[in-house]
Amino acid sequence: MDVQHCKMNGDPLQESMYIEEHANRSGVISLIFSLKEEVGALAKVLRTFEEKGINLTHIESRPSRLNKDEYEFFINLEGKNVPALDNIISSLRNDIGATVHELSRTKKKDTVPWFPRSIQELDRFANQILSYGAELDADHPGFKDPVYRARRKEFADIAYNYRHGQPIPEVTYTEEEKRTWGIVFRELKTLYPTHACYEHNHVFPLLEKYCGYQEDNIPQLEDISKFLQTCTGFRLRPVAGLLSSRDFLAGLAFRVFHSTQYIRHASKPMYTPEPDICHELLGHVPLFADPSFAQFSQEIGLASLGAPDEFIEKLATVYWFTVEFGLCKEGDSLKAYGAGLLSSFGELQYCLSSKPEIQPLVLEKTSVQKYPVTEFQPIYYVAESFKDAKEKLRKFASTIPRPFSVRYNPYTQRIEVLDNAKQLKNLADTINSEMGILCNALQKIK
Ligand SMILES: [Fe+2]
Repeated sequence: MDVQHCKMNGDPLQESMYIEEHANRSGVISLIFSLKEEVGALAKVLRTFEEKGINLTHIESRPSRLNKDEYEFFINLEGKNVPALDNIISSLRNDIGATVHELSRTKKKDTVPWFPRSIQELDRFANQILSYGAELDADHPGFKDPVYRARRKEFADIAYNYRHGQPIPEVTYTEEEKRTWGIVFRELKTLYPTHACYEHNHVFPLLEKYCGYQEDNIPQLEDISKFLQTCTGFRLRPVAGLLSSRDFLAGLAFRVFHSTQYIRHASKPMYTPEPDICHELLGHVPLFADPSFAQFSQEIGLASLGAPDEFIEKLATVYWFTVEFGLCKEGDSLKAYGAGLLSSFGELQYCLSSKPEIQPLVLEKTSVQKYPVTEFQPIYYVAESFKDAKEKLRKFASTIPRPFSVRYNPYTQRIEVLDNAKQLKNLADTINSEMGILCNALQKIK
């Protein structure tokens, strides 16, 4: 499952509307705007769209996070009459007084898309989710369950109001939720010794010992986040809904993983159409405690910063076939390290059967592979090791047309853009100092 601080494509960012064009391949544009809470305000806006002949296909609302007396509206519209959007936005701003902010639509050629430079700027993503937690599709198991929908809204609200640096609010899970977790936990645990990779099996007992991973207890995100920080510096933050690929990947550059906190519907404990806490905690978390995997994940994030849209899609696909559905070699056998596999009882068995096609991880090919999202994958890619995957990723990232390199400074928790002599000198000094430590240590080992 992104917002900004000072500038994005030349626009000031204090306003609160965005257009997310790249996220949708079917010509649909999503946009958010906020309005003062008054009778007829929304009707005026809708009339504007109608007058310009733009068809709205989806609309949802929520209280504004920025201004208490405003409401935010998230809408999808058909992207057939895109030029008219300019007029509409201008009308929203000038005639109706809506606060308006554009993210990507007016991108000029060669403009580098905005990306967060400090870890605090990830807070802005909370305001840019593509769908809010309580909005369920008609075929979702919880669609007709008002209690479940209300519960989902509670979780979405926690994430929506969360800010970097705060402890992640503790949740008291219901007995029913704990039962659902217990079923998933018990079933998957029987498969891990034979199907999960070494790293997953190595970390899992530590999570049981330190983070409350038990059949009758749903662990708390805050406890896990603290644990991960001591292992690899990775941390969790709750997310209220779906983030764009660009925003989600940017989080990884800071070693931040956006995690859901709700659980799937109790009627189908072995199925979920979307990520839930079982997926995050049983699939993703163990691997983020592994230094090599953590670095690989961060490399994907760093490669995404300021990358053009087409490369974001490729990186998201690489993420899909590695972090979500990756297999790796262990001696002569294959094991699963992808979270989508490690959190699915059915697919974890299937992926190591003779049924799917298995291919070596070759990023030029993997990054353009099409894939289904609602059924088992017909093809999996095998990494020789996380180290090997990381090297391949670095090579792949070097082909991204970006006029600078970036590095993450863990002391300041900022992204440094290496596009000037001063930054390069700072980096050289840091490397020099580390080299000194290395040489000294080597001499002592002799
Ligand atoms: Fe996932």
